[in-house]
Amino acid sequence: MRIASGIGELDRVLGGGLVEGSVVLLGGEPGIGKSTLLLQGAASWASHGARVLYVSSEESAEQVRSRAERLGAADEKELYVLADTNLARIVEQARRIVPGVMVIDSAQMIYKSDIPAGPGSVTQLRRCVADLVYLAKASGIAVVLVGHVTKEGTLAGPRIVEHLVDVVLNFEGDRYHAHRIVRAVKNRYGTTMELGIFEMTGSGLREAPEGAGVAAVQGNEGAGPRPGSVVCPIVQGSRCVLVEVQALTATGFLGAAKRKSSGLDSNRLAMLIAVLEQHAGMRLADMDVFASSVGGLRVVEPASDLALLLAIAGAHRRRSTPPRTAAIGEVGLGGEVRPVTQIEQRVRESARLGYTRMLVPEPNRAQATATGIDAIGVRNIDQAIEILGS
Ligand code: TYD
Ligand code: MG
Repeated sequence: MRIASGIGELDRVLGGGLVEGSVVLLGGEPGIGKSTLLLQGAASWASHGARVLYVSSEESAEQVRSRAERLGAADEKELYVLADTNLARIVEQARRIVPGVMVIDSAQMIYKSDIPAGPGSVTQLRRCVADLVYLAKASGIAVVLVGHVTKEGTLAGPRIVEHLVDVVLNFEGDRYHAHRIVRAVKNRYGTTMELGIFEMTGSGLREAPEGAGVAAVQGNEGAGPRPGSVVCPIVQGSRCVLVEVQALTATGFLGAAKRKSSGLDSNRLAMLIAVLEQHAGMRLADMDVFASSVGGLRVVEPASDLALLLAIAGAHRRRSTPPRTAAIGEVGLGGEVRPVTQIEQRVRESARLGYTRMLVPEPNRAQATATGIDAIGVRNIDQAIEILGS
């Protein structure tokens, strides 16, 4: 049986909802919004017929309550809040309340008093999670654990318990952007291809099923042409998301030029730079090249090659793509532009978000046009770069 929250973007990554007796680990950097997501989730599970016990090991019950009020989640009758760090007491409360869902925020702050190690240590985390897995399996309670992923390594990383749990979700995003992405990195009950997309607002997380690209698209309109920035419809699981790929080139040192990417595959970046050098005569060997996907969504689909290549070429030549123009296509080592799958879905989503023109691989052109966009077919990168103007 699945326990759905009714929050579509969350249920989607879980494969339809929480599975009874399963253990889910939600990892993410401090401040990214894990507590916000799970408190909203807790209220939604509660309003959909599951009793929920929300255990806060980091905040007082009062703090949780005031946050719940802010999120409009304070009036759920079936939502119980407990502030405790002692695992034995938490389990005892769970036995009394008999929830369908128990959230532990965070797993790193709870402890078993019979273990001679502090909260947050590897030993405590392992033993506490193992006990909670046992509780979930024995009682049928779905347990959701929060794990902080810290770069400093002051707390034992949640990675060390990933093998113990059924589902591992990552909560990602750039703290300075409003978009947040929930991604399954392990799921015993479903695909790991799906994404849940949210936007952080003043009153909590808002579902953003339209995708992470929308803000970027809207931003584009006002800002005018932006060299080095290209929008690309990528497919993730069952959905298509528009992302903005950006590049910047700057004078570097021959033999020691930097190639840095964020949210993009760095091998792919290196390959595309080499292709531009070899087949478009663009001299980049002594240029630093920086590339990123805007909004924190990690882009790995080879179909994004053409957009990244145009972003680099555009940045280098200070030329931008025409307004409302997206690009899609895989680029081969010979500079050829290869067809992509799901062209209809990509065109439909781009058109829906206001894009009127799209650079597509020539073999995809007819279908793209038929789906309803001004499609420009290209066979190789030279034809694609022409769109940047001279
Ligand atoms: P939080 O859920 O506490 O993060 P985590 O549990 O992952 O550490 O949320 C962190 C940030 O989110 C915090 O800086 C404030 C912001 N926020 C909002 O913008 N709107 C809101 O409604 C809430 C509750 C938080
Ligand atoms: Mg928190």
